[in-house]
Amino acid sequence: VDIILVGLPGSGKSAIGRRLAARHRAAFIDLDDAIEAGTGRSIPEIFAEDGEATFRALERAAVAALGPPDAGEAVARVVATGGGAVVDPRNRWQLYRGRLPVWLDGRPEVLAQRLRRSPHVRPLVTGREPIAAVRDLGRRRERFYAAAHRIVGMADVRSVVAAVDDLVATAGGGGAAWRRGTSLLSASTPIGRYVLGDGMAAEAVSTALHDLGARRAILVSEPGARAAAGDAIAASLTAEGWPVEVIELPRGEAAKRLAVVETAARRLAELRAERREPLVAIGGGALGDAAGFLAATWLRGVPLIHVPTTLVAQIDSAIGGKTAVDLDEGKNLVGAFHRPSVIVTDVAFLRTLDERQRRAALGEAVKMAVLGDGRLFEVLESDGDAIARGEAAAFDSGAVAEVVERCAWAKVEVVADDEREAGAVGGRITLNLGHSVGHGLEAADGYRDLLHGEAVAHGLRAASRIALELELVARDRVARIEALLDRLGLGIGPLALPADAVRVAMGRDKKHAAGRLRWVLPSDDGVVVRDDVPEAVVDPIVDGILAGRTLDEVGAAGTAGQA
Ligand SMILES: NC(=O)c1ccc[n+]([C@@H]2O[C@H](COP(=O)([O-])OP(=O)(O)OC[C@H]3O[C@@H](n4cnc5c(N)ncnc54)[C@H](O)[C@@H]3O)[C@@H](O)[C@H]2O)c1
Repeated sequence: VDIILVGLPGSGKSAIGRRLAARHRAAFIDLDDAIEAGTGRSIPEIFAEDGEATFRALERAAVAALGPPDAGEAVARVVATGGGAVVDPRNRWQLYRGRLPVWLDGRPEVLAQRLRRSPHVRPLVTGREPIAAVRDLGRRRERFYAAAHRIVGMADVRSVVAAVDDLVATAGGGGAAWRRGTSLLSASTPIGRYVLGDGMAAEAVSTALHDLGARRAILVSEPGARAAAGDAIAASLTAEGWPVEVIELPRGEAAKRLAVVETAARRLAELRAERREPLVAIGGGALGDAAGFLAATWLRGVPLIHVPTTLVAQIDSAIGGKTAVDLDEGKNLVGAFHRPSVIVTDVAFLRTLDERQRRAALGEAVKMAVLGDGRLFEVLESDGDAIARGEAAAFDSGAVAEVVERCAWAKVEVVADDEREAGAVGGRITLNLGHSVGHGLEAADGYRDLLHGEAVAHGLRAASRIALELELVARDRVARIEALLDRLGLGIGPLALPADAVRVAMGRDKKHAAGRLRWVLPSDDGVVVRDDVPEAVVDPIVDGILAGRTLDEVGAAGTAGQA
């Protein structure tokens, strides 16, 4: 096995790594040293001369150069990472999968002391009050380190080495933890615990149940998600000794009915489920909305563990605490805000998803990228189509995990700032990018043929063209957004929907401020919110979308070239 040491600058990764490697007659690799040797320059020089981005690119190359993990029981290599290496999702994928990552979690005071005495200059903490700088860095990086096995606050090298040895023995002991699932991210957030990984769902659910003091596992799922995830989780929990109950709801949108919630609640009554007993919702957005509503209302609210199994659910619906069921009069009309205790996101489940489901969900991913994540935009440009197709390479390279992490974490941050949609600019309203027209299309379609993400993709094109028409954004940026959608095969071609019905539905859209539609529109570096967009601008653009006109066909000014 390879041991990967992570932690803040000054946590002793190099000293401990060297000692560990010597003890196990293993190779020792210091990633920072490897970068310095490779470039013939010191890290402070690289930072000063070429900037952090260049350093991070060198770092990514050094991580990739490690090659595949050693699969043996004995310690083969010990790798000390630079403090920031695991911030990058792709590095974490490389470093944590199939290896044994260990977080040397020292106290900030001790780390700051060591940094003061250190002969090296640590670029990210120089020129600042060291303890505050270390604390601040720790807060920002905790979720990356916390996915590794944690060794807390030991001052001397010898006891840390002994603790790592224990870890190797217990984690290796028959089970070889590094061959089971991988944890990639572990965060305590204001909107619940968030964990992300690959093949780790059953273990994470078990941990969550323990932490919540559960005495049994009550799983709520549906046939599709059971086959892909729920049954395996149930089997694993049973094997571990948990009593397991499964409540099965209907597949798809049919789960989101009050009658279904009533039947499920009566099952809970039969099971005598109590006020503190958590429900585990395993499924896509529809299952999560229905099971979430059940958890919000059963005994006026019980703890909820979300296990999202579709791309829609992993990047969107499981985060944010919105639960709802539908009425004949409309979707999501009866619901509640209910914050999950834990969200367990396992990207392995996405492998079995229908291509169309994955592709449509990428409409939401493009939206998150446009909101301000340049790297996400690039990953979607390079790997988006392979992700939609479900190509093994897209999973194995970590591209899928990176897209899920970037989208999900962005939503966590937005929602944590504005949980109940107070409507602060920059808050949750920005997530509505592409949704004004998108909702109009879905409603006009009667929620029949268009998937939500597909509608959002058309809506993104509409929002981009409106922004272009109002001169809020450069044409290059709109062209790049639409080219990405083209590449993903989203929002293309005419829609056989009556324009009037789309307009009426848009008028009914929930995101109103004093009767006016609030538009979220792309700007050059993110989005702006406007409630003064004239219908005279919107109508012809929506007509163009319905007619399947491309950006080139509608001309430089969005509306020019109308038939
Ligand atoms: N609460 C929110 O904030 C929020 C946000 C967005 C969407 N939503 C809701 O989400 C719903 C759409 O979500 P969805 O697209 O995930 O739908 P879904 O839950 O109906 O799942 C889609 C299909 O995939 C199957 N499936 C689930 N997991 C699978 C897996 N791992 N492998 C193979 N098949 C699998 C299901 O059986 C189903 O047939 C809508 O009801 C929408 O209103 C809610």
